[in-house]
Amino acid sequence: MSKSPSDWTELVSSIAGIGVLLSDATAPEPSPPERALVAREFPHLSWAFSAAAAQPAALHDAVLIDEADWHSDATDLYDWDARVLSLQSRRGWLLVSSAHGSQPALEALLQILTRYQRLAPRVNDASRDDSFRCAVSLHRALHDLNKPLVRADYEHALDVWQWVLRLEPCAGRALQLAALFHDIERISSEGDQRVEQHAIDYQSFKNAHAWVGAQLAAHTLAAAGMDAADCDHAAELIWQHELPLARKPDSFTDGASGIRPAMLGPELMSPDALAPADIGAHGSKAASDGPALIARELRVLADADALSFFSLNSRGFFDYYGLEHTRKKVRYTLGRMSPVALGYLQHVKLPSEVERVMYEISLDEHMGLQAGAAS
Ligand SMILES: [Fe+2]
Ligand SMILES: [Fe+2]
Repeated sequence: MSKSPSDWTELVSSIAGIGVLLSDATAPEPSPPERALVAREFPHLSWAFSAAAAQPAALHDAVLIDEADWHSDATDLYDWDARVLSLQSRRGWLLVSSAHGSQPALEALLQILTRYQRLAPRVNDASRDDSFRCAVSLHRALHDLNKPLVRADYEHALDVWQWVLRLEPCAGRALQLAALFHDIERISSEGDQRVEQHAIDYQSFKNAHAWVGAQLAAHTLAAAGMDAADCDHAAELIWQHELPLARKPDSFTDGASGIRPAMLGPELMSPDALAPADIGAHGSKAASDGPALIARELRVLADADALSFFSLNSRGFFDYYGLEHTRKKVRYTLGRMSPVALGYLQHVKLPSEVERVMYEISLDEHMGLQAGAAS
């Protein structure tokens, strides 16, 4: 099952490098401080400036996006998806052109990379080895990419993994595995059609999804030969990934695992459910590392999951579920985000429909605050 390093590129990496091309040929290329924001978020990507201009071969296979077109309301995210995802069949450069200077071009580049970061996966010391590559390969093999909903979940998983590494560059192996496998349960339950909109109790539905997913992930990763402690640790994170999060890590833990039974739906509150045979069976590293680590990792995973909803999935979500359920989902997701994650939304190109929903929600909250202050 082991993969050679060259398979890594074939598996998921499609962006050969990034760059900015200014229409004013005399304009200087962006300086390192100007590039800092993009470089901080995507330190693993090669840059091309004058280099691209000097290398027609790089330009030949590049996707070139005009910064003004990217920001235009007239174009649709799906159109951009079709263009950028063409890199999956011909690994090439992703370049942004601008007539307005390097700063607007770099801001557009950051938004574009944020939407398509799964095409240029970043790894760290915990994921830069054959074993983790096997996990990525196995994860892909579990998904029938011919099914649109399954493909959406697959892409979301890669995207959440990448958000985790942006939020926590030193993320451990288990957290990265949890990001990849956190929604694995949906392959069987919602691969052909979604059902979450019919849930009578949304939080209980989400808890059940997380619970089954944790067990599936634990079995799958163990069968693939992953380290037992990593399997347990990842499963523990998946088990809790939909639970409400306290703002302060201190108040998150009411027990050894950090779970608060009152958060669980009735079907998950039995003692059996809280003490599964196959999670923690190997002496969980998570447990030994303590609840503070788990709380911190759950915070990162929740933020990554929420950011991926906005940056990658929200357009498709709106189209599939419609306005009412999107309102509910946006409210639920915003309520789970830390201030740091909310700050990242400024670098996310949101579909106009979702932007409107967020505006309505912020208006509702503002009015609520005003009414509260007046009473
Ligand atoms: Fe989930
Ligand atoms: Fe998710």
